[in-house]
Amino acid sequence: MSKILVTSALPYINGVPHLGHMVGCLLPSDVYARFMRMTGHEVLYIAGTDEHGTTSEVGALKAGMNVEDYCQMNHQRHRQTYHDFNLSFDCFGRTSSKQNREMTYEIFEALNKNGFIEERAVKQIWSNDDKMFLADRYITGTCPYCGYEKARGDQCENCTKVLEPTDLINAKSTISGSSNLEVKESKHLFLSLPKIEPKLKEWLKSKEAFWPDVAYSIAMKWLKEGLEPRCITRDLKWGFSVPKKGYEDKVFYVWFDAPIGYLGITKQWADEKPDERNFKDWWLTGDDVYYVQFMGKDNVPYHAITFPATLLGTGENYKKVDILKGFSYLTYEGGKFSKSENRGIFAEDAIKEFEADYWRYFLMSNIPESSDSSFSFDLFASVINKDLNGVLGNFVSRVLKMTASKFGNTIPAGGKTTELENTMLNTVQNHIDRYFKYMNALEFRKALSELRAIWVEGNNYITAAEPWTVIKEDENRAAAILRVCANLIRIFALLSAPITPQTAEKMLQAFSLNLGDADLKDFDVSKQIEFLKEGHSFEVGEPLFERISPERTLELKTKYGSTQP
Ligand code: 2FM
Ligand code: ZN
Repeated sequence: MSKILVTSALPYINGVPHLGHMVGCLLPSDVYARFMRMTGHEVLYIAGTDEHGTTSEVGALKAGMNVEDYCQMNHQRHRQTYHDFNLSFDCFGRTSSKQNREMTYEIFEALNKNGFIEERAVKQIWSNDDKMFLADRYITGTCPYCGYEKARGDQCENCTKVLEPTDLINAKSTISGSSNLEVKESKHLFLSLPKIEPKLKEWLKSKEAFWPDVAYSIAMKWLKEGLEPRCITRDLKWGFSVPKKGYEDKVFYVWFDAPIGYLGITKQWADEKPDERNFKDWWLTGDDVYYVQFMGKDNVPYHAITFPATLLGTGENYKKVDILKGFSYLTYEGGKFSKSENRGIFAEDAIKEFEADYWRYFLMSNIPESSDSSFSFDLFASVINKDLNGVLGNFVSRVLKMTASKFGNTIPAGGKTTELENTMLNTVQNHIDRYFKYMNALEFRKALSELRAIWVEGNNYITAAEPWTVIKEDENRAAAILRVCANLIRIFALLSAPITPQTAEKMLQAFSLNLGDADLKDFDVSKQIEFLKEGHSFEVGEPLFERISPERTLELKTKYGSTQP
């Protein structure tokens, strides 16, 4: 058993999460955390809302609220959505917490003491119409590197290059649309990345063999381009004030305190039960913690370069990421999700249409792992109908209905298993071994296809064993087959639990069991197949999934702005 720290990128508080956010960090981190818990590891799973920065100030302004209340309200909204998707965080915190403030100051002071903070005069863009400095994302313009016309002031989402607002060509305010902008100069604090670079390079080198390609190649690309000192303060009101003379009117940049939020939220978690939980056990103990981070590819540079450099610069032995899993984007029919243009389905609406497991299964089996993937309701309906209804749901209902009608509501006694069962169990075990291998390696698409293959084996087995025919000649043999099938239902429930936890509970409830402490440690299907014994009672229950009809699909497409016929 090992200690596994899992974090998901902290979603911006002002945004409304759509399916792309869900699949691009939150959901896979949950699946992984659940899998690791079930395979016997001690897991700490941390996430929360990323609350500082101009976006929150502007969001609050638009909502006519003060920024604290606005963040409080939106934090609850995020929290509710993730709860509805069954994300099993140990702590869902906030980057604006007092613990994160303390953490941010501690780290800043250490960097400052070690000579990694420098002061520089900065030219910034002042908007005469908005009467504010337009930091980060509130300026758009043309990316000087790739020519993308809608690059933001902090990053070009086309080429992922991190930018300074003044790098943009033809800059405009996204708040007012005004291009009546002027450059003003003021002093700011910078993290001296070039001074930390040697340590950083050495650390990154040690990760080469372990990080998935997407993450490592983005990090390397960034490093090759050369590291510049990075500005960590902003002229804003909302944020952590900067504890340095002359900086009273400034706050820390949102990307400085956001990743520190992983530590701050862990402190928040530890503070809730100080007798049982210890921050240091996870962040300062050295090698006994294995740390896995999940994020969209645009977040990779911050997590692979700036944040590790920040931690390295403190000189303290803070835990740094062991595996960094970056995802590409999920598009809506090849384009962007947009709340304002009613294009695509957002998480809080999704959950009103179908239970979480429909989304969890669909998203995990179509996760944008090696390239972008596209969501469409046609694809969604086809995956749900084929896999969840046709394969898993169908097996469960066939087995339970047939057993109830032939033998009553208890698992029947008698009969022997044959070579047919041995062969099936061997095949299933091979799939299980691969399922575990891919889950451990964070290769989710492959893992999901193994899981599906396991369910398919159930259907293949019952089709080959034909209990409905056998029963006419040999009731005992039919009983043995259906006993095996009932056990397969339980096995499928356990294996599927990290992906579809609610469905797993329903499947187990049929036998008056629950997930509880069920584990997948050293999972040996030849033993598990004998878990449910003769005489164990069961309920047939409702079908696990609803079939999505063509009419319903059309209705969803119309409602969520599909452009497909
Ligand atoms: O892209 C985003 O949504 C950022 N708020 C992610 C921050 S991750 C971490 F550093 F907090
Ligand atoms: Zn670009």
